[in-house]
Amino acid sequence: MEKTINLWKELLPYQKKVFRSRKRIVLFIGGTGTGKTWLGARWIIVKALESTGEYLLISPSLKLMKRTLWKEVKKVLKEWEIPFEKNENDMIITLFNGSRLYGIPADNPDRMEGVHAKAGIFDEAGQVDKRIVFETAYRRLRFHNGQLLITTTPYRWNWLKELYDKAKEGDADIDLITARTIENPHYPKEEVEKAKKEMPDWRFKMFYEGVFTKPLGLVYPDYELVSPFEIPSGWLKIRGLDFGYNHPTAVLWLAKDPKTETWYAYKELKKSELTLDDLYEILKKENIPTYADPEMKQGLETLRRRGLDVRPAKKDVLPGITFVQGLFKQKKLKIFASLEKTIEELNTYSWKLDANDQPLDEVVKENDDLMDALRYALFTAEGFKAKFVYKSKMVDI
Ligand SMILES: Nc1ncnc2c1ncn2[C@@H]1O[C@H](COP(=O)(O)OP(=O)(O)O)[C@@H](O)[C@H]1O
Ligand SMILES: [Mg+2]
Repeated sequence: MEKTINLWKELLPYQKKVFRSRKRIVLFIGGTGTGKTWLGARWIIVKALESTGEYLLISPSLKLMKRTLWKEVKKVLKEWEIPFEKNENDMIITLFNGSRLYGIPADNPDRMEGVHAKAGIFDEAGQVDKRIVFETAYRRLRFHNGQLLITTTPYRWNWLKELYDKAKEGDADIDLITARTIENPHYPKEEVEKAKKEMPDWRFKMFYEGVFTKPLGLVYPDYELVSPFEIPSGWLKIRGLDFGYNHPTAVLWLAKDPKTETWYAYKELKKSELTLDDLYEILKKENIPTYADPEMKQGLETLRRRGLDVRPAKKDVLPGITFVQGLFKQKKLKIFASLEKTIEELNTYSWKLDANDQPLDEVVKENDDLMDALRYALFTAEGFKAKFVYKSKMVDI
């Protein structure tokens, strides 16, 4: 007995566009409840039925995966009466035709290595700030020239915003499809109206209209990028150093143009599990003043004893941030466009927000290693001599 599934009839107009796309990257940016997960699950199952092979289901975390994409895929398979076996521990679903669907939480992208997938879906990709997950998935699809479907709401100005901009500029490999929550008739209209009343405008636009608004609460919203150039000899060079082991160690190199008094961040290092010996080998190539976290006494002393010019940094967070913000604002601090990891942190480094979305004067301690290095270097080297206006109070350091 054959069962016919008339999926096409069920698809909303913007969902049809996703199914029609033949481009390598299908970027679906939609509001909450536009049926991103609904669509993603069906899209990947259709692909897996069409051609026996390996397929990727990627979600930001294991918890989210189990609650959304993984659950939806199993639900659809049952609904469509497609025989399958599942291994919940390893998160592998095997269909009757031999196709294998791998559930991959984004915090463990290594699970994709060795897989030559024929298609992949990356649900709520915008939540994952690290570009590496997207890059790994894309690489795993190259062998079969497979498609990657990204379904997400915009969250922050991370790699996804760059991809979105590229698509808007007409990149031949990306299809951009957008939808607002209100376009899904299956989603309660009252919810959308309620959210519109209650939410700050920028947040409503992001989550219900799928628009990349600039998030409030970015610590350094107006940084400027410049094309890399050779630093002339004679410029003052310094470094900021934030030690870590499980957390990454971060080093940022800065040079100052003596004529314009402008700082340029020109080199970066961000690496986990870097030993003190490894770090020493890197730093000794250029023995310049290096401002490091004073709480890591042992590391600091060890590097110093081995002849490096390592100095304790001033760690005052708020005055330090205010100082660096001032430099950005006055265009006295610019970032080489090649510093990918620094840019990634600049795009996400944020103040905590209160229940009304008002920024608090406390930063989110996440993915901030290079931001700390930046502040240590500049604030210690020259900032702490200055006075600051902070929350309309003058702060003397
Ligand atoms: N084409 C469709 N036909 C029927 N229901 C749909 C369709 N698309 C989405 N839905 C329903 O809309 C709701 C939101 O879908 P979901 O995939 O959870 O949205 P998102 O992942 O974008 O937040 C769900 O109840 C889902 O079943
Ligand atoms: Mg979803």
